[in-house]
Amino acid sequence: MSLLIRNGRVITASDDYVADVYCENGTITAIGRDLPADRFHADRTIDASGKYVIPGGIDVHTHLNMPFGGTTSADDFESGTIAAAFGGTTSIVDFAIQYRGQTMRHALEDWRKRADGKAVIDYGFHMIVTELEDAGLEEMDRMVRDEGVTSFKLFMAYPGVFMVDDATIFRALRRTGENGGLVCMHAENGGVIDELVKEALRKGETAPKYHALTRPPTAEGEATGRAIALSEMAGVPIYIVHLSAAHALEKVKQARDMGLPAYAETCPQYLFLSYDNYEEPGFDGAKYVMSPPLREKWHQEVLWKGLAKNDLQVISTDHCPFCMADQKILGKDDFSKIPNGAPGIETRLTLVHDGGVRHGRISMNRFVELCSTTPAKMFGLFPRKGTIAVGSDADIVVFDPDRKATLGVKTLHMKVDYNPYEGRTVHGSPSHVICNGEVIIDGDAFVGRKGAGRFLQRGPSQAPSGL
Ligand code: URP
Ligand code: ZN
Ligand code: ZN
Repeated sequence: MSLLIRNGRVITASDDYVADVYCENGTITAIGRDLPADRFHADRTIDASGKYVIPGGIDVHTHLNMPFGGTTSADDFESGTIAAAFGGTTSIVDFAIQYRGQTMRHALEDWRKRADGKAVIDYGFHMIVTELEDAGLEEMDRMVRDEGVTSFKLFMAYPGVFMVDDATIFRALRRTGENGGLVCMHAENGGVIDELVKEALRKGETAPKYHALTRPPTAEGEATGRAIALSEMAGVPIYIVHLSAAHALEKVKQARDMGLPAYAETCPQYLFLSYDNYEEPGFDGAKYVMSPPLREKWHQEVLWKGLAKNDLQVISTDHCPFCMADQKILGKDDFSKIPNGAPGIETRLTLVHDGGVRHGRISMNRFVELCSTTPAKMFGLFPRKGTIAVGSDADIVVFDPDRKATLGVKTLHMKVDYNPYEGRTVHGSPSHVICNGEVIIDGDAFVGRKGAGRFLQRGPSQAPSGL
């Protein structure tokens, strides 16, 4: 299969020029002005005049088909990756969970079964670690060396479920210094939050907004600072996931100013939504129950500035959808029982382009860097993914800056009965999405194939060399 994308504005993290891009057998094989049709025969030609030609989005934080909060996230690897494709994402890195008493090998096999034969785009896994004895440390080495699972998520929150103590975190961090892995940290002070939750429930404060009020930004700031201090003592890089609060960003910024290899991602929900959403009538605040929670509105501009100045390096989604009707409702009389998470896998590029590029907060190059290039570098996929270059996988989005989209349950493809951005109109969305050289989104139609996505054996992070 060969494909020629003619006359688009090719934008990478560093370049911006008009050219044709030719793809053959899943790889980009030529880029140039007016490539001659006799030499570059194409089974299909797409006219990208007036459009951006950008590397496929890479979402390094998704939870598809994940058991959590007494239920399972609503999108599986088929529906979730189709939705991702509609939104211009061509690779994801999801999370396998090593439960206590189980091995990482078992966890990886389990999650491979959930994804293999279903995903329509490429996928890799981070490993969530919930305990780490000596055998676990050796398994970490094997994951990095043999399985291409080169990153490990640890939690400072959710006591009794995922939370691990500082000693465990330190052991994991130290080991990554030997095996080349990268620790990803959920940084919230779970012990303090647990006390605040119990206190609220004792007082009869059961509504969804108390989820946010019992998880203050200082709990995130404290944990972020502690996580970075642990990584400094271990002498290794650290990556903070789903950073939501200025308090936490300040800790990352301080560390980076000191020259420490501290990195962080934020997510669109923290850039576009706020605490006010929890005040929506009735039980609607449950739509936004996620951890960390949405913050007061003023945090948004602080995060945007962090993105522009490279204090934040990545935008991921933390896509973890639960339906209002039969899942969020589990916490109708007790906010602590509302499954934590919200949908977002489909709306990342269009929201960030609209709110970031169109509103002058970040450049198009930075948009590509945040949503594709740095995710690829951070998680060992670059230059195979994350750029438009000869030899890279032909994962390409033809992005029409003028194509309007109205976000909502009826127009989007995630398998969830609400959307946090319902009714919002955004300018700019993909007209064509190409994964491994195959067109999988053609206008409004999905034309890809269930199971076409490939498992990504990732290499080591490029974080140690500085990002
Ligand atoms: O609320 C969230 N973020 N749900 C997904 C699990 C996690 O901590 O990332
Ligand atoms: Zn988390
Ligand atoms: Zn998550």
